[in-house]
Amino acid sequence: MGIKPLEVKLGRLSLKTPIIMASGIFSYGEVNLNYIDYKKLGAITTKTMTFNPKKGNPQPRIWETPSGMINCIGLQNPGIKEFIKKKLYSINISGVKTIVSISGENIDEVKRITDLLVKQGVNAIELNLSCPNVNRENMMVSQSPDDTYSFVKAVRDIDGDITLIAKLSPNVTDITETALAAEKGGADVLNLINTVKAVAVDIEKKRIIEGGLSGPAIKPIGLRAVFDVYKKVQIPIIGTGGITTGQDALEYILLGASALGIGSGLFSNPYLIDKIYHYLIKFLKKNNIKKITNATGLLNEKKYKGAEKR
Ligand SMILES: Cc1cc2nc3c(=O)[nH]c(=O)nc-3n(C[C@H](O)[C@H](O)[C@H](O)COP(=O)(O)O)c2cc1C
Repeated sequence: MGIKPLEVKLGRLSLKTPIIMASGIFSYGEVNLNYIDYKKLGAITTKTMTFNPKKGNPQPRIWETPSGMINCIGLQNPGIKEFIKKKLYSINISGVKTIVSISGENIDEVKRITDLLVKQGVNAIELNLSCPNVNRENMMVSQSPDDTYSFVKAVRDIDGDITLIAKLSPNVTDITETALAAEKGGADVLNLINTVKAVAVDIEKKRIIEGGLSGPAIKPIGLRAVFDVYKKVQIPIIGTGGITTGQDALEYILLGASALGIGSGLFSNPYLIDKIYHYLIKFLKKNNIKKITNATGLLNEKKYKGAEKR
């Protein structure tokens, strides 16, 4: 077999392309979007699932903003029991890997969820640490390096062949601190970034919409997170935030991402996966680079330092 130029490895998870559908975009395994060319998609991340079912927030849950959108879905999901009963952890699309996103209000919850998923044979878990921790007055878990470490370690310690991804919030002073804590806790992969805390004002109805900002507006924030974290950690990074073109995707790779999370960009362009795929292939050919893995971090200092040593 010849070289597969877009193949990447995240922990033990092998993906045929680095393009991953981000959590919250696809729902669960019951959905099959027939306009997507699944041959170009490496993995799908499920909507985050919690221990107990969640109804989510009242409408409106989506608010358009300049160059982006605010969402406050409120982690609507059927809870772990229904999730397992309906086999929602398995996206039945040949060649596309499933990453199950989970969240818990405390360590005990994430441990119990992981335990149940491992028993079903799930082997890729994304720990959404960008949700409130009840023990810390509703601050997000990944706003604290200590909590980040403890949550990741608790899941890591569960006996099972899991590729563990830690998804971090950008709402911190220095994201390298939580990234290092997740790595120390045993994460195989980091996903940077989740949405950025934001608020919109509905003057008409005299109310506010509190939620997370996504889309092109947050791309520079996501790029910065990847740029800074890549220098400090040894584990691979999924770059997420504001990717709406092939060029955006490549920027993330050049700064240190091994794979790409595609979120709200798919709402405005359902063919975005196709576009990114062709852009990356064209870039490799034009620059005579054999594999996308050789492009990771090319424009980041860490790579230059490594190159000097050789
Ligand atoms: C409608 C919507 C729902 C989301 N739900 C989740 C979720 O359940 N879990 C999660 O980790 N991230 C969730 N996200 C965040 C995305 O996975 C992604 O990290 C973020 O939107 C930034 O990427 P983007 O700018 O490409 O959208 C959601 C985003 C949107 C827009």
